[in-house]
Amino acid sequence: MTDLNPTVPPHPADSPPLLEIAGLSVDFRLGSSVVHAVRGVDLRVSAGQTVAVVGESGSGKTATALSVLRLNPEPPCVYAGGEIRFDGRDLLALSDKELGRLRGRDISMVFQDPMTSLDPLQRVGPQVAEVLRHHQGLHRARAREQTLAALEEVGIPEPERRYRQYPHELSGGLRQRVMIAMALVGRPRVLIADEPTTALDVTVQRQILDLLVDLQRRHAMAVVLITHDLGVVAETADHVVVMNQGRVVESGSVLDVFDRPVDDYTRRLLAATPRLEPA
Ligand SMILES: Nc1ncnc2c1ncn2[C@@H]1O[C@H](COP(=O)(O)OP(=O)(O)O)[C@@H](O)[C@H]1O
Ligand SMILES: [Mg+2]
Repeated sequence: MTDLNPTVPPHPADSPPLLEIAGLSVDFRLGSSVVHAVRGVDLRVSAGQTVAVVGESGSGKTATALSVLRLNPEPPCVYAGGEIRFDGRDLLALSDKELGRLRGRDISMVFQDPMTSLDPLQRVGPQVAEVLRHHQGLHRARAREQTLAALEEVGIPEPERRYRQYPHELSGGLRQRVMIAMALVGRPRVLIADEPTTALDVTVQRQILDLLVDLQRRHAMAVVLITHDLGVVAETADHVVVMNQGRVVESGSVLDVFDRPVDDYTRRLLAATPRLEPA
């Protein structure tokens, strides 16, 4: 068993958070019934830091993540309380227009299923290039050039050929790489990745995670990585937030939480992952 995160640079615990979720509550109101999906969640992430969010299915991880860019469908979603601060601003209080300017430029998301973000009827290259044209006003040739560089950076071989292909012509792993290129091409300061490798086979999962870790370090991004895989947490994250039924039941450094879980739920989660006894 190797050490946890041997190469993650030490991170000062008191460095100011770039993104801070404070007391977030999210409801889904369906007719007369209400699902309290997120109940007073706190989460903070600084530049250069990776915070993992774990918890079983339905614990509110995705609803929390989508709240940052206010992407939960409204209705049925209602933001019932709390704040999401980025760069001194409360994102929940911004207009759609202001948020639109942040999306993809300051804060990006990668989802489990690339097809939620890729248009099946458009070639992939121009879809990535569109982000640059939209946010940076780049002209076609310059956007294309930077897109090719981005495809290369995320490890896509023959970027010129891939640029012209449609999503269905790519493997799942390549599609996820395109998604990551699309998320990162605008050089965001915060990346939120929601189970980005769950749909992929194990070997490809590993490659994509290695890629994310590498890009995170190279660009000193603040990363929120949602996963149900504690092995992934051990290898990629500095900090872990454990959610259960909409609440944060435990949070702390990965070493502390894995070594001395305080919460009963966290203990059971760890116990269900037998290879993760601390080194
Ligand atoms: N669009 C939605 N409409 C209604 N309920 C939703 C919606 N999205 C999420 N929920 C509910 O919110 C709760 C948390 O879901 P989610 O955040 O997706 O959990 P996780 O990502 O941890 O699996 C669940 O009970 C889920 O059914
Ligand atoms: Mg989810």
